[in-house]
Amino acid sequence: MNLNPPRPLQADWLKLGLGLGLRHVHIDYIFRHWPKVDWFEIISENFMFSAGRPRHVLRQVAERYPLVMHGVSLSIGSADPLDFTYLQSLKALAAEIQPQWISDHLCWTGVLGNNTHDLLPMPLTDEALQHVARRINTVQDFLERPLVLENPSTYLSYAQSTWQEAPFLAELVQRTGCRLLLDVNNCYVSCFNAGLDPVQYLQALPHNAIAQIHLAGHQHCGTHIIDTHDRAVAPPVWQLFQQAWALSAGAATLLEWDANIPPFEDCLAELHKARDYMQAAAFTFDPAPTAVEDEAVSTPLDFLVAPMMVETASQVSTLEHG
Ligand SMILES: [Fe+2]
Repeated sequence: MNLNPPRPLQADWLKLGLGLGLRHVHIDYIFRHWPKVDWFEIISENFMFSAGRPRHVLRQVAERYPLVMHGVSLSIGSADPLDFTYLQSLKALAAEIQPQWISDHLCWTGVLGNNTHDLLPMPLTDEALQHVARRINTVQDFLERPLVLENPSTYLSYAQSTWQEAPFLAELVQRTGCRLLLDVNNCYVSCFNAGLDPVQYLQALPHNAIAQIHLAGHQHCGTHIIDTHDRAVAPPVWQLFQQAWALSAGAATLLEWDANIPPFEDCLAELHKARDYMQAAAFTFDPAPTAVEDEAVSTPLDFLVAPMMVETASQVSTLEHG
């Protein structure tokens, strides 16, 4: 077993508030208005290999907003060797824009050098756990920062799997000190498709390792759900978000919208629906013990203390604008 000590994220990692994915259709609006949004998440691959205007745009945004880098090609679960050319580009971009953290998915995207451009599910076995943990440690050593790993949306499970996904992620956190990006929509989609309870999934995660939460829309097809990112967040996902936000003690929250993207102001309005659930979460928080002991991770316990509960509204405001 490879037990690495936890690596600290930047000190203010829990206080980013509410962010949006940076999408090219919104760039003109953003440059005209510099809107009040707490932070942006970029797709790393959109900028890693570009120069000129895309990089100029990114630098302008980075000067005004906290940024997070979110990748889709690390392929941490693949049997292929890690791609150090890719990792070098990722590290170089991070050195340039100083993101709060770098994330990618628990998945594999291809094998034998072929990229499927899809986030394929992992067999959840002891062998896969050892394999992914080893690769996370290598990546973290190379990037000199913790990797933040997202739960993918899945449509199948393997007969060989001996782990559920949430304890699998918890064990990865324990073995590597990586952090988690909890996509509550993916959690809902995967659990529905697998016939599992998303609340039990949430409860099995190491809550103080959750650096970030994703929200997104999905398409419900009756017998299954597809993770489409093309519409508003579904009501049961908002309910799940409320619990996740409380359990993670206010993790940075981001709305993803990747197809049929509405105007920026509509995305922002959808994101700001989160405020109601954050406020409700602060009043219903159940301070259950978390699964990971990690002194390096700060937890904003103040809103859990009874006298502070009356100040919930200002807490939420601070999270949004702090
Ligand atoms: Fe996501």
